[in-house]
Amino acid sequence: MSVAIRSIGTPVERVEGREKVTGRALYAYEHAPEGVAYAAIVTSSVARGSVRAIDADAALSLPGVLGVLSAQNAPNLPGAEGELAVLQSPAVAYRGEIVAVAIAETAELARQAAETVRVDYEQAPHDVLLRGDHPELYRPEKVNPNFPTDTEEGDVDAALAAAPVQVDETYTTPTEHNTAMEPHATIAAWEGDSLTLYDSNQGAWNVVQAIAKVFAIDAGRVRVIAPHVGGGFGSKGTPRPHVVLAALCARHVGRPVKLAVTRQQMFTLTGYRTPTIQRMRLAADHDGHLQAIVHDVKEQTSTVQEFAEQTAVVTRMLYASPARRTTHRLVALDVPTPSWMRAPGECPGMFALESAMDDLAVACGLDPIELRIRNEPEIDPESGNPFSTRNLVECLRRGAERFGWDGRAEPGAHRDGRWLTGMGVAASTYPARRVGSTAHGTAEADGTFTIRITAADIGTGARTVLTQIAADALELPLDRVRVVIGDSESGQAMVAGGSMGTTSWGTAIVKACERLRAGEAEVHVDTGDDEDPGKDFARHAFGAQFIEVRVDPATGEVRIPRALGMFACGRIINPRTARSQFLGGMTMGIGMALFEETIVDPGLGAFMNHDLAQYHVPTNADIRDLEADWIDEEDFRVNPMGSKGIGEIGIVGTAAAVANAVYNATGVRHRDLPITPARILATRQ
Ligand code: MOS
Repeated sequence: MSVAIRSIGTPVERVEGREKVTGRALYAYEHAPEGVAYAAIVTSSVARGSVRAIDADAALSLPGVLGVLSAQNAPNLPGAEGELAVLQSPAVAYRGEIVAVAIAETAELARQAAETVRVDYEQAPHDVLLRGDHPELYRPEKVNPNFPTDTEEGDVDAALAAAPVQVDETYTTPTEHNTAMEPHATIAAWEGDSLTLYDSNQGAWNVVQAIAKVFAIDAGRVRVIAPHVGGGFGSKGTPRPHVVLAALCARHVGRPVKLAVTRQQMFTLTGYRTPTIQRMRLAADHDGHLQAIVHDVKEQTSTVQEFAEQTAVVTRMLYASPARRTTHRLVALDVPTPSWMRAPGECPGMFALESAMDDLAVACGLDPIELRIRNEPEIDPESGNPFSTRNLVECLRRGAERFGWDGRAEPGAHRDGRWLTGMGVAASTYPARRVGSTAHGTAEADGTFTIRITAADIGTGARTVLTQIAADALELPLDRVRVVIGDSESGQAMVAGGSMGTTSWGTAIVKACERLRAGEAEVHVDTGDDEDPGKDFARHAFGAQFIEVRVDPATGEVRIPRALGMFACGRIINPRTARSQFLGGMTMGIGMALFEETIVDPGLGAFMNHDLAQYHVPTNADIRDLEADWIDEEDFRVNPMGSKGIGEIGIVGTAAAVANAVYNATGVRHRDLPITPARILATRQ
């Protein structure tokens, strides 16, 4: 099964672009149900303990305040577990947890009321710092989403003992936060036992399932509407506690309720990337052929629920080695639960692996690209299956040529005035998975076609590429096809996550369009039980990241004048929106390398830099000549479009490429992110 190519591969402009730039595209908070009230969250000011008493009298006496909910008066939620068990107990598990909510006639009044609520705590000692020697580190049963926690093949210890070249280093990444442009927001409206949510999320169907379970109501009674979403990066991939809270508030006051999470509250309520401590041991022969790879990860979870990031999983498949061991250990701290953030697992894991490969290249006296080529596996080392397509080497070679890799000098050998300059490279990879989804198709009387699918466009261009896919599958021009997304009424579908959105939705759309083309007027398809033509293949996207840095040894300033990402991600459906995804990922990777770090105050148990003034993400001044390109590839073992997901691979490897470039510029290796001026100065030679 493959689709005719007309629109696929062309740089179609966003189909909703005009709506967005004219402000007609409504985001969650902008919907205006009649009689709406407003809610504002009260969060805990202690990191552990319990709420002894809530005094809401002053708040409730403000004219226009409609109610205050806390664990004292909130209804029991029969199906609520973990993070979604909002206001179900006086216990406080982390600083910033929801302890109460105020509902009022206006947003300002709700906020004033929330600030007026007095909370008295029984405070208990807390522990918020991940340490490599933490006594409570444990081995989780599995890592996300369902991978073995530890793996071992070959005689690792013998290989480590025998190999002439060794790297044994520890790399760390800090707590990092998703900072979507559109903060999380929900409007909840009950009609009898039926609930409608206008909600900013990455997958309306999943929100329906989760919220129906929490309230123990039939999923058919919950509808989630999310036509436009201003970013997510994973933070909107699973419903957050405020969604439950909005529904509780609406039920409490008998009116629709709007609840916006503030930028500062996002830092505790909407998930973050766990910090990691990663020990990498690489053993090789003198020619750089790996004999053993060991990747031992320590990271955190919360006491609320387990989140076990799959940080070392990428090390199981990227390079050939006769012996290999990967482990994950967690400690449950008094912190919010970590969650999804763009390329969870691969992103921090590849900082360690690809930095260690650069360390190994130095130890072997090899060019880092040559080292990677020498360790290119014939088949997937983990499953033993062939790769459906694997063009990592091609990305490295093409990127090197384009970037001018030949001009790279020895470490610390290149100066331009006060700047030390250097180049770095790292590989990039991300799985190309797919899950079943449903779609509806209608042949309209006017000769156009409507496709309905519970897809989410979180700013990626998903709506546009799905329209292209449908048009090509119908062999029609784009203007004869309309794709309606973001409404759970369209049925089960994959979330916009794991770089699986377009591949999963597109497959269902192709199937629906084939039946419409065969003459059916109204079709409903489900790809859930369909035969997967690529199931016996290892399916991954690949890429190579090239970074040039300038380092001022006097101030510690690091600049990135030039970066190139060269990717192999199957057929590129829309070069315009794809380039934007790659560049966005690379930009976020530069942020990870140089700026992003959520500072934890161990005494307060708090994230201190909880706003965009203090949590610095790259701005225009930080990003200069940034380029993304790709090689021709098509992979029909992934989906009938021949494409692979592209939302996450852009961030993978970027931070390692920056650190490797800083090493090449300065001769100093940085194994702890971010590489701040203070860290450059502290290691100045
Ligand atoms: Mo993304 S972290 O898979 O939503």
